[in-house]
Amino acid sequence: MSKIEKSEKLFEKACSLIPKGVNSPVRAFGQVGGTPIFMERGEGTYIYDVDGNKYVDYCQSWGASIMGHAHPVVVEAVKKQAEKGTSFGIPTEVEVQLADIVVSNFKKIDMVRFVSSGTEAVMSAVRLARGFTGKDSVLKFEGGYHGHVDYLLVEAGSGLATLGLPASAGVTEGNAQNTYNIPLDDTDKLDQLFEKHGNDIACILVEGIPANNGLLIQSREFMHHLQQKAHKHNALLVVDEVITGFRVGKGGATEMYCIDPDIVTFGKVIGGGLPVGAFGAKREIMEKIAPLGPVYQAGTLSGNPLAMSSGIAVLSYLIEYDSWKYLEEIGKFWEDNIREIITKNGYPMNIARKGSIFWFSFAEGDLPTQGKQITPESIKLYAKFFHAMLEQGFYFAPSGYEVGFLTISHTKEILEVTLDAMEKGLQKIM
Ligand SMILES: Cc1ncc(COP(=O)(O)O)c(C=O)c1O
Repeated sequence: MSKIEKSEKLFEKACSLIPKGVNSPVRAFGQVGGTPIFMERGEGTYIYDVDGNKYVDYCQSWGASIMGHAHPVVVEAVKKQAEKGTSFGIPTEVEVQLADIVVSNFKKIDMVRFVSSGTEAVMSAVRLARGFTGKDSVLKFEGGYHGHVDYLLVEAGSGLATLGLPASAGVTEGNAQNTYNIPLDDTDKLDQLFEKHGNDIACILVEGIPANNGLLIQSREFMHHLQQKAHKHNALLVVDEVITGFRVGKGGATEMYCIDPDIVTFGKVIGGGLPVGAFGAKREIMEKIAPLGPVYQAGTLSGNPLAMSSGIAVLSYLIEYDSWKYLEEIGKFWEDNIREIITKNGYPMNIARKGSIFWFSFAEGDLPTQGKQITPESIKLYAKFFHAMLEQGFYFAPSGYEVGFLTISHTKEILEVTLDAMEKGLQKIM
Protein backbone atom coordinates (compact mmCIF):
# COMPACT_ATOMS: atom_id res chain seq x y z
CA MET A 1 0.00 0.00 0.00
CA SER A 2 1.21 3.50 -0.78
CA LYS A 3 2.52 5.59 2.12
CA ILE A 4 0.75 8.59 0.65
CA GLU A 5 -2.61 7.09 -0.30
CA LYS A 6 -4.67 10.02 0.98
CA SER A 7 -2.42 12.53 -0.76
CA GLU A 8 -2.78 10.62 -4.02
CA LYS A 9 -6.58 10.65 -3.74
CA LEU A 10 -6.64 14.32 -2.83
CA PHE A 11 -4.35 15.15 -5.72
CA GLU A 12 -6.61 13.32 -8.13
CA LYS A 13 -9.62 15.27 -6.92
CA ALA A 14 -7.63 18.53 -6.81
CA CYS A 15 -6.60 18.02 -10.44
CA SER A 16 -10.24 17.94 -11.45
CA LEU A 17 -10.91 21.25 -9.71
CA ILE A 18 -7.67 23.26 -9.73
CA PRO A 19 -5.19 23.40 -12.65
CA LYS A 20 -2.77 20.51 -12.01
CA GLY A 21 -4.19 20.40 -8.48
CA VAL A 22 -2.14 23.33 -7.18
CA ASN A 23 -2.43 27.04 -6.57
CA SER A 24 1.18 27.79 -7.51
CA PRO A 25 3.02 25.80 -10.20
CA VAL A 26 6.16 24.43 -8.50
CA ARG A 27 4.03 22.70 -5.86
CA ALA A 28 2.89 20.21 -8.52
CA PHE A 29 6.25 18.34 -8.41
CA GLY A 30 6.63 18.85 -12.19
CA GLN A 31 10.36 19.35 -11.81
CA VAL A 32 11.01 16.30 -9.62
CA GLY A 33 8.19 13.96 -10.68
CA GLY A 34 5.83 12.02 -8.40
CA THR A 35 2.72 13.03 -6.49
CA PRO A 36 2.70 16.15 -4.34
CA ILE A 37 2.03 15.42 -0.70
CA PHE A 38 -0.80 17.25 1.03
CA MET A 39 -0.04 18.82 4.38
CA GLU A 40 -2.24 18.62 7.40
CA ARG A 41 -0.25 20.52 10.00
CA GLY A 42 3.15 21.76 10.99
CA GLU A 43 4.97 22.27 14.26
CA GLY A 44 8.38 23.93 14.39
CA THR A 45 10.67 22.13 11.99
CA TYR A 46 8.21 19.34 11.30
CA ILE A 47 5.33 18.99 8.89
CA TYR A 48 2.78 16.16 8.92
CA ASP A 49 0.96 15.07 5.78
CA VAL A 50 -2.64 13.88 5.54
CA ASP A 51 -1.47 10.24 5.74
CA GLY A 52 0.25 10.92 9.05
CA ASN A 53 3.83 10.92 7.67
CA LYS A 54 6.24 13.27 9.41
CA TYR A 55 8.93 15.26 7.60
CA VAL A 56 11.64 17.71 8.59
CA ASP A 57 10.82 20.77 6.51
CA TYR A 58 13.57 22.67 4.65
CA CYS A 59 11.15 24.56 2.41
CA GLN A 60 9.30 26.37 5.21
CA SER A 61 6.69 27.99 3.04
CA TRP A 62 9.36 29.13 0.59
CA GLY A 63 11.08 31.11 3.29
CA ALA A 64 8.03 32.86 4.71
CA SER A 65 8.26 30.89 7.90
CA ILE A 66 11.45 31.88 9.73
CA MET A 67 10.27 30.71 13.17
CA GLY A 68 9.17 27.27 12.02
CA HIS A 69 5.53 26.25 11.81
CA ALA A 70 2.84 27.30 14.27
CA HIS A 71 5.25 29.05 16.61
CA PRO A 72 3.32 29.80 19.85
CA VAL A 73 4.16 33.51 19.66
CA VAL A 74 2.62 33.77 16.19
CA VAL A 75 -0.37 31.58 16.97
CA GLU A 76 -1.18 33.67 20.02
CA ALA A 77 -0.89 36.97 18.12
CA VAL A 78 -3.10 35.76 15.27
CA LYS A 79 -5.70 34.28 17.64
CA LYS A 80 -5.89 37.50 19.64
CA GLN A 81 -6.38 39.58 16.52
CA ALA A 82 -8.91 37.14 14.98
CA GLU A 83 -11.07 37.54 18.06
CA LYS A 84 -11.12 41.30 17.47
CA GLY A 85 -11.85 41.09 13.75
CA THR A 86 -9.91 40.02 10.67
CA SER A 87 -10.36 42.93 8.28
CA PHE A 88 -11.89 46.38 8.43
CA GLY A 89 -10.65 48.30 5.42
CA ILE A 90 -10.16 51.11 7.93
CA PRO A 91 -6.75 51.99 9.45
CA THR A 92 -5.65 49.96 12.48
CA GLU A 93 -2.94 50.43 15.10
CA VAL A 94 -1.17 47.22 14.09
CA GLU A 95 -0.35 48.69 10.66
CA VAL A 96 1.43 51.59 12.35
CA GLN A 97 3.25 49.23 14.70
CA LEU A 98 4.56 46.98 11.93
CA ALA A 99 5.50 49.99 9.78
CA ASP A 100 7.45 51.38 12.73
CA ILE A 101 9.31 48.08 13.24
CA VAL A 102 10.17 47.77 9.55
CA VAL A 103 11.26 51.38 9.05
CA SER A 104 13.25 51.73 12.27
CA ASN A 105 15.09 48.43 11.90
CA PHE A 106 15.71 48.28 8.16
CA LYS A 107 17.05 51.84 8.36
CA LYS A 108 17.42 52.68 4.64
CA ILE A 109 13.77 53.66 4.16
CA ASP A 110 11.63 56.40 5.69
CA MET A 111 8.18 55.11 4.82
CA VAL A 112 6.56 51.86 3.89
CA ARG A 113 3.27 50.68 2.41
CA PHE A 114 1.85 47.20 2.95
CA VAL A 115 0.30 45.03 0.27
CA SER A 116 -0.67 41.36 0.24
CA SER A 117 2.10 39.62 -1.73
CA GLY A 118 5.62 40.01 -3.00
CA THR A 119 4.29 40.31 -6.55
CA GLU A 120 2.17 43.29 -5.59
CA ALA A 121 5.09 44.85 -3.73
CA VAL A 122 7.38 44.71 -6.77
CA MET A 123 4.66 45.79 -9.18
CA SER A 124 3.95 48.85 -7.03
CA ALA A 125 7.66 49.60 -6.58
CA VAL A 126 8.25 49.64 -10.33
CA ARG A 127 5.20 51.84 -10.90
CA LEU A 128 6.57 54.19 -8.27
CA ALA A 129 10.01 54.22 -9.94
CA ARG A 130 8.39 55.04 -13.27
CA GLY A 131 6.18 57.71 -11.72
CA PHE A 132 9.12 59.27 -9.89
CA THR A 133 11.58 59.31 -12.78
CA GLY A 134 9.12 59.85 -15.62
CA LYS A 135 10.91 57.07 -17.52
CA ASP A 136 9.46 53.84 -18.87
CA SER A 137 11.90 50.93 -18.87
CA VAL A 138 12.93 48.44 -16.24
CA LEU A 139 16.20 46.57 -16.20
CA LYS A 140 16.09 43.16 -14.56
CA PHE A 141 18.45 40.19 -14.63
CA GLU A 142 18.23 36.76 -16.18
CA GLY A 143 17.04 34.29 -13.60
CA GLY A 144 15.77 37.08 -11.35
CA TYR A 145 12.23 36.36 -10.21
CA HIS A 146 10.08 39.16 -8.91
CA GLY A 147 6.60 37.66 -8.95
CA HIS A 148 4.21 37.13 -11.83
CA VAL A 149 3.77 40.70 -13.04
CA ASP A 150 3.33 40.65 -16.84
CA TYR A 151 6.29 42.83 -17.77
CA LEU A 152 8.61 40.94 -15.39
CA LEU A 153 7.79 37.57 -16.94
CA VAL A 154 10.19 38.10 -19.78
CA GLU A 155 13.22 36.29 -21.10
CA ALA A 156 16.17 37.66 -22.93
CA GLY A 157 16.46 37.04 -26.62
CA SER A 158 19.89 36.50 -28.07
CA GLY A 159 22.50 39.18 -28.37
CA LEU A 160 23.50 42.10 -26.28
CA ALA A 161 21.24 44.19 -24.17
CA THR A 162 18.20 42.38 -25.30
CA LEU A 163 14.75 43.70 -25.07
CA GLY A 164 12.53 41.26 -23.27
CA LEU A 165 10.47 38.63 -24.99
CA PRO A 166 7.37 37.28 -23.25
CA ALA A 167 8.13 34.11 -21.23
CA SER A 168 4.50 33.28 -20.57
CA ALA A 169 1.50 33.01 -22.82
CA GLY A 170 -0.75 35.96 -22.15
CA VAL A 171 2.14 38.38 -21.76
CA THR A 172 2.08 40.58 -24.82
CA GLU A 173 5.09 41.90 -26.65
CA GLY A 174 3.82 45.31 -25.64
CA ASN A 175 4.01 44.26 -21.98
CA ALA A 176 7.57 43.10 -22.44
CA GLN A 177 8.93 45.87 -24.59
CA ASN A 178 9.92 48.10 -21.72
CA THR A 179 11.84 45.38 -19.91
CA TYR A 180 15.55 44.82 -20.41
CA ASN A 181 16.95 41.54 -19.24
CA ILE A 182 20.71 40.96 -18.97
CA PRO A 183 22.91 38.44 -17.10
CA LEU A 184 23.89 39.03 -13.49
CA ASP A 185 27.56 39.52 -12.68
CA ASP A 186 28.34 41.17 -16.01
CA THR A 187 29.27 44.83 -15.67
CA ASP A 188 30.23 45.13 -19.37
CA LYS A 189 26.74 44.26 -20.55
CA LEU A 190 25.29 46.59 -17.97
CA ASP A 191 27.52 49.48 -19.06
CA GLN A 192 26.75 48.91 -22.71
CA LEU A 193 23.03 48.82 -22.02
CA PHE A 194 23.15 52.08 -20.09
CA GLU A 195 25.21 53.72 -22.78
CA LYS A 196 22.52 52.95 -25.32
CA HIS A 197 19.33 53.16 -23.30
CA GLY A 198 20.24 54.93 -20.06
CA ASN A 199 17.87 57.82 -20.75
CA ASP A 200 14.97 55.44 -20.86
CA ILE A 201 15.62 53.30 -17.76
CA ALA A 202 13.46 54.09 -14.75
CA CYS A 203 15.01 51.50 -12.47
CA ILE A 204 17.36 48.61 -12.02
CA LEU A 205 15.48 45.80 -10.30
CA VAL A 206 17.62 43.20 -8.56
CA GLU A 207 17.02 40.57 -5.91
CA GLY A 208 18.94 41.34 -2.71
CA ILE A 209 20.56 37.93 -3.14
CA PRO A 210 19.25 36.26 -6.29
CA ALA A 211 17.61 33.13 -4.89
CA ASN A 212 15.08 31.98 -7.45
CA ASN A 213 17.39 30.32 -9.93
CA GLY A 214 19.78 28.65 -7.60
CA LEU A 215 21.47 30.94 -5.10
CA LEU A 216 23.48 33.27 -7.33
CA ILE A 217 25.56 35.14 -4.81
CA GLN A 218 26.81 38.41 -6.33
CA SER A 219 29.95 40.30 -5.45
CA ARG A 220 29.88 43.52 -3.48
CA GLU A 221 31.51 45.23 -6.48
CA PHE A 222 28.65 44.21 -8.77
CA MET A 223 25.98 45.46 -6.37
CA HIS A 224 27.81 48.76 -5.94
CA HIS A 225 28.24 49.06 -9.68
CA LEU A 226 24.46 48.78 -10.06
CA GLN A 227 23.96 51.58 -7.61
CA GLN A 228 26.48 53.86 -9.31
CA LYS A 229 25.13 53.15 -12.78
CA ALA A 230 21.54 53.78 -11.74
CA HIS A 231 22.35 57.05 -10.04
CA LYS A 232 24.57 58.32 -12.81
CA HIS A 233 21.66 57.92 -15.22
CA ASN A 234 18.90 59.24 -12.94
CA ALA A 235 17.44 55.77 -12.57
CA LEU A 236 16.41 54.24 -9.24
CA LEU A 237 17.90 51.13 -7.67
CA VAL A 238 15.07 48.84 -6.55
CA VAL A 239 16.29 46.02 -4.34
CA ASP A 240 13.83 43.16 -4.11
CA GLU A 241 14.21 41.86 -0.57
CA VAL A 242 11.10 39.66 -0.66
CA ILE A 243 13.28 36.69 0.31
CA THR A 244 16.19 38.41 2.03
CA GLY A 245 14.39 41.17 3.99
CA PHE A 246 14.60 40.37 7.72
CA ARG A 247 15.92 36.91 6.79
CA VAL A 248 19.63 37.58 6.37
CA GLY A 249 19.57 40.26 9.05
CA LYS A 250 17.60 43.31 10.23
CA GLY A 251 18.93 45.30 7.31
CA GLY A 252 18.57 42.53 4.74
CA ALA A 253 20.91 42.17 1.77
CA THR A 254 21.02 45.98 1.62
CA GLU A 255 22.99 46.06 4.86
CA MET A 256 25.04 43.01 3.94
CA TYR A 257 26.26 44.68 0.75
CA CYS A 258 26.34 48.21 2.26
CA ILE A 259 24.22 49.57 -0.57
CA ASP A 260 21.74 52.41 -0.57
CA PRO A 261 18.67 51.41 -2.57
CA ASP A 262 16.04 53.95 -3.57
CA ILE A 263 13.14 51.52 -3.17
CA VAL A 264 13.05 48.21 -1.31
CA THR A 265 10.43 45.47 -1.52
CA PHE A 266 9.54 42.99 1.19
CA GLY A 267 7.36 39.90 1.58
CA LYS A 268 7.62 36.44 3.14
CA VAL A 269 9.30 36.91 6.59
CA ILE A 270 7.56 40.22 7.40
CA GLY A 271 4.18 38.46 7.37
CA GLY A 272 5.36 35.51 9.43
CA GLY A 273 3.47 33.07 7.20
CA LEU A 274 0.46 35.24 6.44
CA PRO A 275 0.00 37.00 3.09
CA VAL A 276 2.01 40.23 3.22
CA GLY A 277 4.24 42.27 0.99
CA ALA A 278 5.52 45.81 1.34
CA PHE A 279 7.54 48.44 -0.43
CA GLY A 280 9.42 51.27 1.17
CA ALA A 281 11.64 54.15 0.12
CA LYS A 282 12.98 57.52 1.14
CA ARG A 283 10.29 60.06 1.99
CA GLU A 284 10.54 62.14 -1.19
CA ILE A 285 9.91 59.01 -3.27
CA MET A 286 7.14 57.55 -1.09
CA GLU A 287 5.33 60.89 -1.14
CA LYS A 288 4.56 60.24 -4.80
CA ILE A 289 2.18 57.44 -3.75
CA ALA A 290 -1.59 58.10 -3.71
CA PRO A 291 -3.31 59.80 -2.04
CA LEU A 292 -0.29 62.03 -1.31
CA GLY A 293 0.97 61.87 -4.87
CA PRO A 294 0.00 60.86 -8.40
CA VAL A 295 1.12 57.18 -8.38
CA TYR A 296 -2.00 55.09 -7.71
CA GLN A 297 -1.74 52.04 -5.48
CA ALA A 298 -4.41 50.36 -3.32
CA GLY A 299 -5.75 47.08 -1.87
CA THR A 300 -8.88 45.86 -0.07
CA LEU A 301 -6.85 43.66 2.26
CA SER A 302 -3.67 45.75 2.33
CA GLY A 303 -2.36 46.11 5.88
CA ASN A 304 -4.65 43.28 6.92
CA PRO A 305 -4.68 43.18 10.73
CA LEU A 306 -4.20 39.40 10.99
CA ALA A 307 -1.13 39.56 8.79
CA MET A 308 0.16 42.69 10.56
CA SER A 309 -0.19 40.99 13.96
CA SER A 310 1.70 37.95 12.74
CA GLY A 311 4.43 40.18 11.28
CA ILE A 312 4.74 42.16 14.51
CA ALA A 313 5.05 38.93 16.53
CA VAL A 314 7.75 37.51 14.26
CA LEU A 315 9.86 40.62 13.80
CA SER A 316 9.67 41.55 17.50
CA TYR A 317 10.85 38.07 18.43
CA LEU A 318 13.71 38.06 15.91
CA ILE A 319 14.86 41.49 17.06
CA GLU A 320 14.55 40.73 20.78
CA TYR A 321 16.62 37.54 20.53
CA ASP A 322 18.83 38.72 17.66
CA SER A 323 17.89 35.42 16.03
CA TRP A 324 20.07 36.11 12.99
CA LYS A 325 23.11 35.13 15.10
CA TYR A 326 21.58 31.73 15.74
CA LEU A 327 20.57 31.34 12.11
CA GLU A 328 24.14 32.07 11.01
CA GLU A 329 25.50 29.63 13.58
CA ILE A 330 23.32 26.73 12.43
CA GLY A 331 23.74 27.79 8.80
CA LYS A 332 27.50 27.49 9.15
CA PHE A 333 27.20 24.14 10.91
CA TRP A 334 24.96 22.91 8.08
CA GLU A 335 27.28 24.18 5.35
CA ASP A 336 30.48 22.89 7.00
CA ASN A 337 29.07 19.41 7.50
CA ILE A 338 27.71 19.19 3.99
CA ARG A 339 31.06 20.28 2.59
CA GLU A 340 32.66 17.52 4.64
CA ILE A 341 30.32 14.91 3.13
CA ILE A 342 31.00 16.24 -0.37
CA THR A 343 34.80 16.28 0.06
CA LYS A 344 35.00 12.95 1.85
CA ASN A 345 33.10 11.20 -0.93
CA GLY A 346 34.36 13.29 -3.84
CA TYR A 347 30.80 14.08 -4.92
CA PRO A 348 30.39 16.45 -7.88
CA MET A 349 28.35 18.94 -5.92
CA ASN A 350 28.59 22.16 -3.96
CA ILE A 351 26.59 24.20 -1.47
CA ALA A 352 25.89 27.95 -1.62
CA ARG A 353 24.72 29.66 1.54
CA LYS A 354 23.95 33.09 2.96
CA GLY A 355 22.76 32.93 6.55
CA SER A 356 19.77 30.61 6.65
CA ILE A 357 19.32 30.41 2.86
CA PHE A 358 21.06 27.54 1.11
CA TRP A 359 21.18 25.82 -2.26
CA PHE A 360 22.74 22.60 -3.51
CA SER A 361 24.49 22.72 -6.84
CA PHE A 362 24.74 19.23 -8.31
CA ALA A 363 27.67 20.09 -10.54
CA GLU A 364 31.41 20.16 -10.12
CA GLY A 365 33.37 23.36 -9.84
CA ASP A 366 32.62 26.89 -8.74
CA LEU A 367 29.20 28.02 -7.68
CA PRO A 368 27.26 29.77 -10.44
CA THR A 369 26.78 33.54 -10.42
CA GLN A 370 24.55 33.55 -13.52
CA GLY A 371 21.39 31.54 -14.15
CA LYS A 372 22.62 30.06 -17.42
CA GLN A 373 25.54 28.37 -15.65
CA ILE A 374 23.13 25.90 -14.05
CA THR A 375 22.97 22.75 -16.18
CA PRO A 376 19.85 20.66 -16.89
CA GLU A 377 21.84 17.55 -15.79
CA SER A 378 22.40 19.04 -12.35
CA ILE A 379 18.68 19.75 -12.04
CA LYS A 380 17.91 16.12 -12.95
CA LEU A 381 20.28 14.92 -10.27
CA TYR A 382 18.57 17.17 -7.75
CA ALA A 383 15.27 15.44 -8.55
CA LYS A 384 16.82 12.12 -7.48
CA PHE A 385 18.20 13.71 -4.34
CA PHE A 386 14.80 15.19 -3.56
CA HIS A 387 13.11 11.78 -3.67
CA ALA A 388 15.92 10.05 -1.78
CA MET A 389 15.37 12.55 1.03
CA LEU A 390 11.57 12.58 0.88
CA GLU A 391 11.50 8.80 1.29
CA GLN A 392 13.46 9.18 4.50
CA GLY A 393 11.21 11.95 5.85
CA PHE A 394 12.96 15.17 4.78
CA TYR A 395 11.14 17.75 2.69
CA PHE A 396 13.24 19.98 0.43
CA ALA A 397 11.83 22.31 -2.24
CA PRO A 398 10.48 20.26 -5.17
CA SER A 399 12.76 21.87 -7.77
CA GLY A 400 16.51 22.04 -8.20
CA TYR A 401 16.29 25.75 -8.97
CA GLU A 402 14.77 26.54 -5.59
CA VAL A 403 16.69 27.35 -2.43
CA GLY A 404 16.16 25.85 1.02
CA PHE A 405 15.60 27.60 4.32
CA LEU A 406 16.60 27.04 7.94
CA THR A 407 14.51 28.47 10.75
CA ILE A 408 15.05 29.19 14.43
CA SER A 409 13.32 25.86 15.11
CA HIS A 410 16.06 23.89 13.31
CA THR A 411 18.43 22.57 15.98
CA LYS A 412 21.88 21.09 15.50
CA GLU A 413 20.41 17.72 16.53
CA ILE A 414 17.81 17.89 13.76
CA LEU A 415 20.48 18.93 11.27
CA GLU A 416 22.69 16.02 12.35
CA VAL A 417 19.90 13.53 11.76
CA THR A 418 19.35 15.11 8.34
CA LEU A 419 23.07 14.92 7.54
CA ASP A 420 23.09 11.16 8.28
CA ALA A 421 20.12 10.68 5.99
CA MET A 422 21.82 12.82 3.37
CA GLU A 423 24.90 10.61 3.36
CA LYS A 424 22.65 7.63 2.74
CA GLY A 425 20.60 9.45 0.11
CA LEU A 426 23.64 10.71 -1.77
CA GLN A 427 25.26 7.25 -1.74
CA LYS A 428 22.15 5.91 -3.38
CA ILE A 429 21.98 8.46 -6.21
CA MET A 430 25.64 9.18 -7.00
C1 LIG B 1 12.57 37.87 -4.81
C2 LIG B 1 11.10 37.66 -4.98
N1 LIG B 1 10.33 38.71 -5.35
C3 LIG B 1 9.00 38.58 -5.49
C4 LIG B 1 8.38 37.38 -5.27
C5 LIG B 1 6.89 37.27 -5.43
O1 LIG B 1 6.32 37.10 -4.16
P1 LIG B 1 4.87 36.41 -4.01
O2 LIG B 1 5.04 34.99 -4.39
O3 LIG B 1 4.53 36.63 -2.56
O4 LIG B 1 3.95 37.14 -4.92
C6 LIG B 1 9.14 36.28 -4.88
C7 LIG B 1 8.50 34.97 -4.64
O5 LIG B 1 9.11 33.96 -4.41
C8 LIG B 1 10.53 36.41 -4.73
O6 LIG B 1 11.31 35.39 -4.37
